[in-house]
Amino acid sequence: MRLLTVLWKNVSLENIPRQVDFYSKFSPSPLSMKQFLDFGSENACEKASFLFLRQELPVRLANIMKEISLLPDNLLKTTSVQLVQSWYMQSLQDILEFKEKDSDNPETVRNFTDTLITVRNRHNDVVPTMAQGVIEYRDCFGVDPVTSQNVQYFLDRFYMSRISIRMLLNQHTLLFGEKVEANPAHPKQIGSIDPNCSVVEVIEDAYENAKRLCDLYYMSSPNLEIEESNAKSRGQPVQVVYVPSHLYHMVFELFKNSMRATMENHLDKNDHPPVRVNVTLGNEDLTVKISDRGGGVPLRKVDLLFNYMYSTAPYPRVENARAAPLAGFGYGLPISRLYARYFQGDLKLYTLEGYGMDALIYIKALSTDSVERLPVYNKSAWKHYKMNHEADDWCVPSSEPKDMTTFRS
Ligand SMILES: Nc1ncnc2c1ncn2[C@@H]1O[C@H](COP(=O)(O)OP(=O)(O)OP(=O)(O)O)[C@@H](O)[C@H]1O
Ligand SMILES: [Mg+2]
Repeated sequence: MRLLTVLWKNVSLENIPRQVDFYSKFSPSPLSMKQFLDFGSENACEKASFLFLRQELPVRLANIMKEISLLPDNLLKTTSVQLVQSWYMQSLQDILEFKEKDSDNPETVRNFTDTLITVRNRHNDVVPTMAQGVIEYRDCFGVDPVTSQNVQYFLDRFYMSRISIRMLLNQHTLLFGEKVEANPAHPKQIGSIDPNCSVVEVIEDAYENAKRLCDLYYMSSPNLEIEESNAKSRGQPVQVVYVPSHLYHMVFELFKNSMRATMENHLDKNDHPPVRVNVTLGNEDLTVKISDRGGGVPLRKVDLLFNYMYSTAPYPRVENARAAPLAGFGYGLPISRLYARYFQGDLKLYTLEGYGMDALIYIKALSTDSVERLPVYNKSAWKHYKMNHEADDWCVPSSEPKDMTTFRS
């Protein structure tokens, strides 16, 4: 307890490494969808949310900051990663300022909400900035398979942590910020959660926006065919307690990919096979299957598609940044899979090389099963960065088949 008091009293940037050590010893507390809803229910209490967040945010920030510090030195030293690290330090400091403040003072609680908005805005560009750092590093030093595996492991955890921190920031600021009433587009949402999220509506919306981009690049686009089946309540539209913006993000990315593959695979034809979507609600899973006839990829490559940095599209030119590209960063699939996994779902690809791709999004049908999936910094995580990866325990086939005659007696 004494240590805690000493740490509170000295919140300055020089003390941040000590604060990181201290808070990273706590494990993040995953929230369930129900807990998110309770924070936003009618008797929602800003003070309760404040008390929770002023402890939980430093814990989540510190846990991931520990992992940033384990990145290879030359990656850590890039200007982009330094910048990202400075944002995390500043935000941790900003939030720790509230540690010793009186939670009964309404002004403190209001200032906290304003600080969270500042923190959220400060971190807006974390994804492209971190991506830039990795590109700088790769271009200067190249990437061996071990580093590549470590960077992939880190980015999955880093971006997942970011999704979770933004979820907390958004819930608090949407529920208690000044512009609470200014969200007429989604009056029934509790913060960013829709207790009755209409899955097909979100899919149609994402399709329309992806189609607009596709039309811009290819002057045409595949049609959409949706099939909806509700095995729980026959004939009823499929609804789920979910964050519509997360669902939108995933299906928008999958539509862009399917449209691009379809158009590239049928360049010489006037009519393109449609993108087919099947939405099914079962007892445990809500599944969205997006099927295209864009030729798929060889099975060998499927895992590679989830690699940050893997893209077969030319890297989008910076001067074109305002017109969103249809593809090119290689972040569409890995980040979408993180959104799916964040609430214990998943995203999988099934390829039929020469024909097309089926992409499946799994979402938990029951909100009680939707609990945050969070990285925690501990010994196992540490080992991932520090241990040399051992040799493969499966034989690597040699390129030349052995001359069987040598084995004849
Ligand atoms: N449905 C699909 N059919 C065939 N190939 C696909 C499909 N979806 C993805 N791919 C391949 O996987 C690669 C990676 O996809 P991903 O969405 O992660 O990145 P991207 O589309 O290249 O760029 P962006 O970050 O803008 O989405 C694509 O470049 C493409 O080669
Ligand atoms: Mg994509």
